[in-house]
Amino acid sequence: MRTKITIVGAGFVGSTLAQRLAERDYADVVMYDIVPNMPQGKALDMLQAGPVLGYDSLIVGTNDYADTANSDLVVITSGFPRKPGMSRDDLLRKNQEIVTQVVQEIIKYSPNCMLIVVTNPLDAMAQLAYHVSGFPRNRVVGMAGVLDTARFRTFIAQELNVSVRDVQAYVLGGHGDTMVPLARMCTVAGVPISQLLPAERIEQIIQRTRDGGAEIVNLLGTGSAYFAPSAAVLQMIDSIVLDKKMIMPCSAYLQGEYGIQNLFVGVPVKLGANGVEQIIELELTEDERALLHKSAAAVQELVKVMGI
Ligand code: NAI
Ligand code: 2OP
Repeated sequence: MRTKITIVGAGFVGSTLAQRLAERDYADVVMYDIVPNMPQGKALDMLQAGPVLGYDSLIVGTNDYADTANSDLVVITSGFPRKPGMSRDDLLRKNQEIVTQVVQEIIKYSPNCMLIVVTNPLDAMAQLAYHVSGFPRNRVVGMAGVLDTARFRTFIAQELNVSVRDVQAYVLGGHGDTMVPLARMCTVAGVPISQLLPAERIEQIIQRTRDGGAEIVNLLGTGSAYFAPSAAVLQMIDSIVLDKKMIMPCSAYLQGEYGIQNLFVGVPVKLGANGVEQIIELELTEDERALLHKSAAAVQELVKVMGI
């Protein structure tokens, strides 16, 4: 049996992810969008790449939720992206309406699926999806930390002229200006970056990581990043569908971990066939913990505004 994965929103992130997934060749993909015919056109185009690239993944584009029935996993990318000068939080109201309606429809047809939320503001939208779906916490997770960590790793690798594969790092907290890149736990082939770079340079790289999304929004002029975001979602899906049990930073529902209650915030989790199988509690310094709590407070503010 092949895994069935639905992607809601066939825009930049959704369609790039669909193509990446098709190339993995372990799942069939349904792309849903409200724009008539657009997901059908993109799906047909991807299907026709199969003979060239050698995959048999079935890719279906649709405007009908019935086609998403019995999905094992659903990725929510529907919603508005940022424009220059907009914060992720400015998107709150518009995307709250979209994500609420999407989750209501999805759970009608796939009551047992796993939800990966991508729509911004990410942690608030993950909280909303959890609230609307009524799913247990292991079946709702948000993508942000893998992307933010990838940006951090890219900048460190560029700075030191080493392979990105040798750079390990964690970015925790909410996906916003208060995210917490953990410099203390960043290593290059096992060597702490504090031994390789001066503190002020590390601080600049941390700031560039925090501004990583905005840097791309400003360059693009319209829309936001999608190549790295879709790659980040793919890594999470790999770990779930192939039960790899990889540990990566994701937005997960905390119930006391890190001293945070009933809130989605980015922390390291183990992703496997059962979704969020474990929340890993790192030993943080007092300063790091304070930054994480400040970030959680920013997410909490958004949740309050949503009134859920
Ligand atoms: P996009 O505008 O290219 O695609 C969004 C798609 O959603 C459009 O095709 C639109 O027609 C569709 N849509 C709108 N309302 C819908 C509804 N009710 N039902 C189904 N589809 C609907 O935007 P893009 O670049 O793909 O980004 C999507 C979202 O992901 C944005 O909110 C963006 O901020 C967020 N994002 C989050 C990241 C993260 O790290 N969590 C990274 C990159 C993007
Ligand atoms: C990003 O960080 C827009 O949240 C998205 O690129």
